[in-house]
Amino acid sequence: MVAIVTGGAGGMGRDTALLFAREGASVVVGDVDIDGGASLLAEIAAAGGKAVFQRTDVAVEADVAALVAKAEQSYGKLDTIFNNAGIEQPVTASDEISEELFERVIDINLKGTFFGCKHAIPALLRNGGGTIVNNSSVSAFANVGGNLSYAASKGGIMSMTRVIAIEYAARNIRCNAINPGVIDTGMNQRNKAKAADPDAMEQKWRSITPLGRMGTGTEIGEAVLFLASAQSSFVTGIGLVIDGGRIAT
Ligand SMILES: NC(=O)c1ccc[n+]([C@@H]2O[C@H](COP(=O)([O-])OP(=O)(O)OC[C@H]3O[C@@H](n4cnc5c(N)ncnc54)[C@H](O)[C@@H]3O)[C@@H](O)[C@H]2O)c1
Repeated sequence: MVAIVTGGAGGMGRDTALLFAREGASVVVGDVDIDGGASLLAEIAAAGGKAVFQRTDVAVEADVAALVAKAEQSYGKLDTIFNNAGIEQPVTASDEISEELFERVIDINLKGTFFGCKHAIPALLRNGGGTIVNNSSVSAFANVGGNLSYAASKGGIMSMTRVIAIEYAARNIRCNAINPGVIDTGMNQRNKAKAADPDAMEQKWRSITPLGRMGTGTEIGEAVLFLASAQSSFVTGIGLVIDGGRIAT
């Protein structure tokens, strides 16, 4: 399997890239973090896996087109793309969000996912089909508070996922999303550090999660692997909630 992971140099993207490589996939990592990409490649190579890195800002269409081209040039085809790159919105009252902040979050999270889908689809069609996994969030379904642009971007990703799933179903492309709850990554380390009371913030995350803890990037990677592979061959157009029970409450 040839797999693109955007935002693969850190957080759950990194854990997913490691898992894909461990399972024998050839991984194409796109990220703005060049140092993180280099250290990931070293770790994958040391474990006997295959990966290449391409500096990619998912908000820049030419970068995303080049990332897809890199996959086909390096490994001859594309089987799957995990559109994972995303940023948080600092907690802000909705009537105080600047246009600049709103546009930045939408550009990376929503437009970046659109570019990933748009440019992967022709490569997947050349391959006779394949899979797309988009990283949405429980924020698409449940109010988190203080993150309007983030929630809007993640809701948009869910809608886009369904559109693509239906439009390309007959051409053997499946498109699904994941909806993580609170996962222990750099993003949430930053969210915690910015909170007035960081310990209270972590305690809140645990208390809203019936399983009583934050999820791990590897737990997300396992779900992405399922949706990317033939094990999920009859699954398309869904959002797979991976949240320790949070939105069931
Ligand atoms: N952490 C959570 O609790 C959580 C929950 C739900 C959804 N998500 C989503 O999961 C995805 C990954 O989040 P994470 O928690 O691993 O974050 P993270 O900040 O730990 O890692 C994100 C990675 O994306 C990269 N990135 C950022 N902007 C980029 C850009 N413009 N182009 C390319 N790469 C870029 C970063 O360099 C980093 O390597 C995001 O889409 C996020 O919204 C996270």
